[in-house]
Amino acid sequence: MSMDEACYAQRRKRLLDQIEEGVILIPAATHCMRSNDTEYPFRQNSHFYYLCGFEEDHALLVLQRSKKGTKQILFVQKKDRTKELWTGKRLGVSAAKKRFRVDAVYGIDNVDKVLSKRLQGVAHLYIDLYGNEKFLQHIHQLCATLHADRSVKVSPQNFLHVNGLIEKMRLIKSDAEIVRIEQALHITKEAHEKAMHAAQKGMMEYELQALIEQVFKTRGAKSDAYTTIVAGGNNANTLHYIANDSILNAGDLVLIDAGCEYQMYASDITRTFPVSGIFSPAQRALYEMVLQVQLEVINAIRPGIKRSKLQELCEVKLCKGMIALGILKGSCKTVRKKGKHKKYFPHGVGHWMGIDVHDQAPYYDDQGKELRLESGMVLTVEPGIYIDKNDKNVPKKYRGIGIRIEDNILVTKTGYRNLSKDIAKSVAEIEALCVGVTPTG
Ligand code: GLY
Ligand code: MN
Ligand code: MN
Repeated sequence: MSMDEACYAQRRKRLLDQIEEGVILIPAATHCMRSNDTEYPFRQNSHFYYLCGFEEDHALLVLQRSKKGTKQILFVQKKDRTKELWTGKRLGVSAAKKRFRVDAVYGIDNVDKVLSKRLQGVAHLYIDLYGNEKFLQHIHQLCATLHADRSVKVSPQNFLHVNGLIEKMRLIKSDAEIVRIEQALHITKEAHEKAMHAAQKGMMEYELQALIEQVFKTRGAKSDAYTTIVAGGNNANTLHYIANDSILNAGDLVLIDAGCEYQMYASDITRTFPVSGIFSPAQRALYEMVLQVQLEVINAIRPGIKRSKLQELCEVKLCKGMIALGILKGSCKTVRKKGKHKKYFPHGVGHWMGIDVHDQAPYYDDQGKELRLESGMVLTVEPGIYIDKNDKNVPKKYRGIGIRIEDNILVTKTGYRNLSKDIAKSVAEIEALCVGVTPTG
């Protein structure tokens, strides 16, 4: 069940099977500069990783189908003692030849020479047309040179966007991919629960962030899957709050949206809990309402249902909950018709998750029809309620409260499996974890 070389070879074959003729180019990610000559941490291009499981930079995968059959070529960095002294070990050409089940491996410094030959006689080129502009421009230049060469009879004229073909494949996860997501969630659980236990008034949000990320790294996750959100009190009402630089106040809730990336697979979990360890009655009423909605949406997951149905269910249940608590007035029907609930629940019910936290996989088919859930898909369910501290339309006791509860769900043949079900979520579980800290005001 591991993701071995046979698994990557199988994916490359499945990709090649989708085209009649042509060459597919998938480059590794390039480094992003932070400032001057300092780089952001390198993170591999998800599609490239999906197809070869290789984490190095300066690499290129070339897949070709012609009348003669298929050819798979990988370009990698050559071994270079001086460069490896500065930037780390490289696999090198000969080890890559042994490891990857491709037809040929070349040094990346030969890429232009080899590609100029290989692209002669090729009319269709499949490439990422929307990302990595530098690479695209380089390939355009190479093809323009071929086009201008009177001795070259056929050179690439049709540039096609390759991503859609890979994204469709990524939509359905294999058992081995699910295992990695579960491993990521195992670490993420420990991180969230440690934060619940440690939180207390007077701490800075970034201290909780540090605790969470310490768990990620010490448990073998090299990175977070996205920037950790630790939002105390009213900060939770900023959906993508990442400043994490406020003090945590007694009596407030704190919303933590954090998930590690484990061996290139994401987790995406939100929990909201009281800084002082005990929910106030108003916080508890709102929390239990959101939790109930989340459980009902998760329970509706099964093959055949559309994501838009889950969105509708989520909105209806949240509307009813908000009306019952006196946050919205009127009937659920009119509230929804006028979109009044969107002020308090402005985002989607969830998204695909996998190698990317917002996985690059389609929501509609080629005809624009919405996809129905299928066994093997992984999605988040993340209802929330966000009430600004200055919102005079809402009873005072609810102002300044932001709550989101997010889990990661696998669609199975008969329904679903909540992959993050073990992460403390009920009021009782959360309050039990927050023990040791008494609210002293
Ligand atoms: N953490 C990003 C999201 O929940 O979509
Ligand atoms: Mn999410
Ligand atoms: Mn999230």
